Amino acid sequence: MSESTPPKTANAYQSLKPILRFITPYKRNVILALFFLVFTAAISLSLGQGVKMVIDSGFISGSVEQLTQTILMLIGMIFLLAFGTFFRFYLMSWIGERVSADIRTAVFNQIIKLHPSYFEENRSGELMSRLTTDTALLQSIIGSSFSMALRSLFMLLGGLIMLLVTNLKLSMIVILCVPLVLLPMMFFGRRVRDLASSSQDAIADIGTYAGEIIQNIKVVQSYTHEPREQAAFGGEVEKAFEVAKKRIKQRSFLFAAVILLTFAAISVMLWVGGMDVLSGAMTGGELGAFIFYAIMVAMSVATVAEVYGELQRAAGSATRLLELLALESDIQSPNSPQQLPPTSQAAINLQSVNFNYPSRPDIPALNDINLTINHGETVALVGPSGAGKTTLFELLQRFYDPQSGTVMVNDTAIEQLTLEDLRHVMGMVPQHPVLFSSDVRHNIGYGNPKASELEIEDAAKRAHAHEFIMELPNGYSSFLGEQGVRLSGGQKQRIAIARAILKDPNILLLDEATSALDAQSEYHVQAALNELMTDRTTIIIAHRLATVIHADKIVVMDGGRIVDIGNHQSLLESSPLYQRLCELQFEQAKTPASE
Ligand SMILES: Nc1ncnc2c1ncn2[C@@H]1O[C@H](COP(=O)(O)OP(=O)(O)O)[C@@H](O)[C@H]1O
Ligand SMILES: [Mg+2]
Repeated sequence: MSESTPPKTANAYQSLKPILRFITPYKRNVILALFFLVFTAAISLSLGQGVKMVIDSGFISGSVEQLTQTILMLIGMIFLLAFGTFFRFYLMSWIGERVSADIRTAVFNQIIKLHPSYFEENRSGELMSRLTTDTALLQSIIGSSFSMALRSLFMLLGGLIMLLVTNLKLSMIVILCVPLVLLPMMFFGRRVRDLASSSQDAIADIGTYAGEIIQNIKVVQSYTHEPREQAAFGGEVEKAFEVAKKRIKQRSFLFAAVILLTFAAISVMLWVGGMDVLSGAMTGGELGAFIFYAIMVAMSVATVAEVYGELQRAAGSATRLLELLALESDIQSPNSPQQLPPTSQAAINLQSVNFNYPSRPDIPALNDINLTINHGETVALVGPSGAGKTTLFELLQRFYDPQSGTVMVNDTAIEQLTLEDLRHVMGMVPQHPVLFSSDVRHNIGYGNPKASELEIEDAAKRAHAHEFIMELPNGYSSFLGEQGVRLSGGQKQRIAIARAILKDPNILLLDEATSALDAQSEYHVQAALNELMTDRTTIIIAHRLATVIHADKIVVMDGGRIVDIGNHQSLLESSPLYQRLCELQFEQAKTPASE
């Protein structure tokens, strides 16, 4: 929608120019393709002479032998044309496909490195369409439209020369007629193009809408909003149809106008030329060749005009793709990074850290955080929802950089480390476990792609996931569905824990990792976590008292601040907020305990 305005012609070329750097690696194929392009254009042009000879030498002379000879020659030329066309088409399309594949990869490689806040500001659907629609448009431009235009230009020039050589007077008529055919094409063509791109947008909207409904199908059905959604979706579809209707109307006009004008022009030519043939000023063959060239010229002009419009749209695509390619992540590894000493020791230190999310510049998500965590300690973060606990984890992993203050791991500021090194020492089990739509093995193995089958199984056992995995229809090869829809919340969480176990990080970050577990599996997972946490620095965001009580240190957060630090006993005495959180816990705990 926002991108439907094509850039002005002057910078259409400018914005397509950078695409050249994707084409240059394939210079050899480009040169070959150009050769075949010129080759086929030349043969097409000489076909007109063939037509002339067939009529003049074949028909008029009345000699069967001559007719056969010229026809044989014509067939030979057509063979050459077919031969050349194969290579021209294959090479040109190859270049288009190759270049768009390269651009697609380059864009993806760029996107995947971008800082997370970029994705908060940009809709994922739009990024997807950059990868698919925009690259496809470039592919059709490079692979077919561009070569069509180039070929047409050759034919246009060659055809014009041949016209002038064949008959000057008739050529003048043609040259006058061409703009006549061209004008309606320009007029309707522009409208068709504009409508085509809003039509594409409308179709994309339909896709987005349906995608969202399908993802939230249970909510829709549970509120029995099917009729409403049907009506709303129907509305979207009708909108797209209305746009399409306008477009096809313009196209129908376009076709009708082109046919009318083209054939009218040819008729006039036949009339004027026919007069000349009758008076003996030109031969029938010359008239035949002339009409052949005239049609060729007209078609070439039409092609060039059409491709010209497409080129403008492609320029829009190219601009958007190049913008993506030029993006630099806000979060970068330093140029000369420091190395973490090869040790399993891990201490964390936060000094006067202040942070607000880019989308909420006025509200501090973390406010003057000072915290030291020694190696091997287990630290529990507690506090009401929105206190900033998860945000602290995001900063530790450098998904965001704080506005001020320093985060240090083993006395090295984390911006001094490569992102790889930093994230290698951390293992995270997020609040909402994220699963990929593939099988169990892949999902656990994500923690360490080098892990063997046995190691994966071992990690699953330690996360108390092995049992339920074996009950799935295909065990470790069971497909989990999109976002792991085929698992319960607690099962997803245990898969995520197994993944972290497999990574075997020095620093373990658990974000309410046991929140979605029932009492029984919580007991098991807690046991697994206890084992996992020994001799490892662990920060655990927890609501459950059981987890909190055994922590070495409890950090109470509220409104982005650390309000208290201590252990269970001391905080019960000194921290009113902690007391309140505990009271809530005991009330909740009573229910399952009395069962
Ligand atoms: N991506 C985000 N963009 C803007 N604000 C956010 C984002 N994530 C969290 N917040 C806000 O930051 C504050 C702290 O959130 P969070 O760290 O998730 O709290 P919690 O302690 O519940 O984990 C909340 O006010 C939340 O609304
Ligand atoms: Mg949270």
